[in-house]
Amino acid sequence: MDGEVEVELHRPDEPPRVVERDGAHRLDALPPGKRMGHSVLGRGHMALLPKHSVYRLRGRTPGAVVFQTIEGPETLLRWAEICQTEGGTAKPPAAPSPPRAERHGEPLALETRFESGPADADTGYIASVSHGEVHHQLPADAFLRALMRDVAWGFFYGTVNFDDVLGTTNFYGEVEMFLGAKNEAFVRAGRDVTERFASADLMKAFKAILRDWTNEGFDPFAAPLETAAAFGPKRGSNDAAIERQRVSARRMVGLPGDTGVRTDQSGYPVNRMFADVPQHQPFVEAGPGFESEVSAFNLFGYLSRSDVTWNPSVCSVLRDSLFCPTSEEYILPIDHGNDRVEWFIQLSDEIVWDVKDGATGRPRARVTMRAGDVAAMPADIRHRGYSTKRSMLLVWENGSPAIPELIRSGKAPVIPVKF
Ligand SMILES: [Fe+2]
Repeated sequence: MDGEVEVELHRPDEPPRVVERDGAHRLDALPPGKRMGHSVLGRGHMALLPKHSVYRLRGRTPGAVVFQTIEGPETLLRWAEICQTEGGTAKPPAAPSPPRAERHGEPLALETRFESGPADADTGYIASVSHGEVHHQLPADAFLRALMRDVAWGFFYGTVNFDDVLGTTNFYGEVEMFLGAKNEAFVRAGRDVTERFASADLMKAFKAILRDWTNEGFDPFAAPLETAAAFGPKRGSNDAAIERQRVSARRMVGLPGDTGVRTDQSGYPVNRMFADVPQHQPFVEAGPGFESEVSAFNLFGYLSRSDVTWNPSVCSVLRDSLFCPTSEEYILPIDHGNDRVEWFIQLSDEIVWDVKDGATGRPRARVTMRAGDVAAMPADIRHRGYSTKRSMLLVWENGSPAIPELIRSGKAPVIPVKF
């Protein structure tokens, strides 16, 4: 995050003794073994500390490093002291039918009462979504940007609110689509509708709608200044933009056989707003036989070359712990309703977050995060971010499939600390 640090790695001869706790263990002396290699990391660089290795970090000047690790005997839990919680204890108490699509508007290929189509096929400004007597409309570009995230993320964790009314909730294998179910006024009036689908079926329908509605030149992943408009009558397509593969490293970006680093040659030029991000790779020296374990790459350089916004991609994996950094510009196209605690580390610039109650949508907090700021977003909120210029955000997810049920049943807390 800051400063320069040298990382030395050794592989002990003896297999590590069986330890009762995960995580890092302090050693009093370097055990007999082989030197694996070393790297020198600067700001924005990321390195692998392989399991069953012995490591030592050295910095000539004070610096700051983020570790993605498992809690262990050396871990100090300080979040309760560090976290700023002003107001944190305050708890909130628990039209005529649109015309059917004529040019856009492939119907949901499902046995469902949901219908979608443009309110006017010539302007293509407004998307209409109906379910029986419940009608809803939202801007077509917002609809497509949200739809794109649901498709690319496989319905993501928890709830993807397209806006205050329309959305999906992931039950991992099945998914619910709703109008008004997360909106206090709709629920109070008994106007909310929800249908549950097999995830694969709804995904197929969403992909078909997205393909059908996306005009030539419109990229739902791009910042508004980097794409043509979404509006107008049906005109061409942009399958290349909507069928991008989401980056998902198995261990870490840059390792042999894993997701590669981004370069000009591989089709990822530096974004116009990140021209000042240093592009040099960290120094890495791997001893013979350790080439696949001694590895580091320039994460900030990697993010400066992202061609998409608001699309967290897995860059390093430690069991269920997923580092999903991303570059952001303009507005997160959805209100993400968490089903687990999510950690944010702002890596550059600034994002403002509107945080609302996950169930009702009532405002709860506004969080301004600048470079170096850390936040734990609770499991019972929804949030939407605003980034006035392109910024880098590290989204740190616990991907364990057990968490939503642990939270629903009250066995796991919705915040990661007791104050
Ligand atoms: Fe979230």
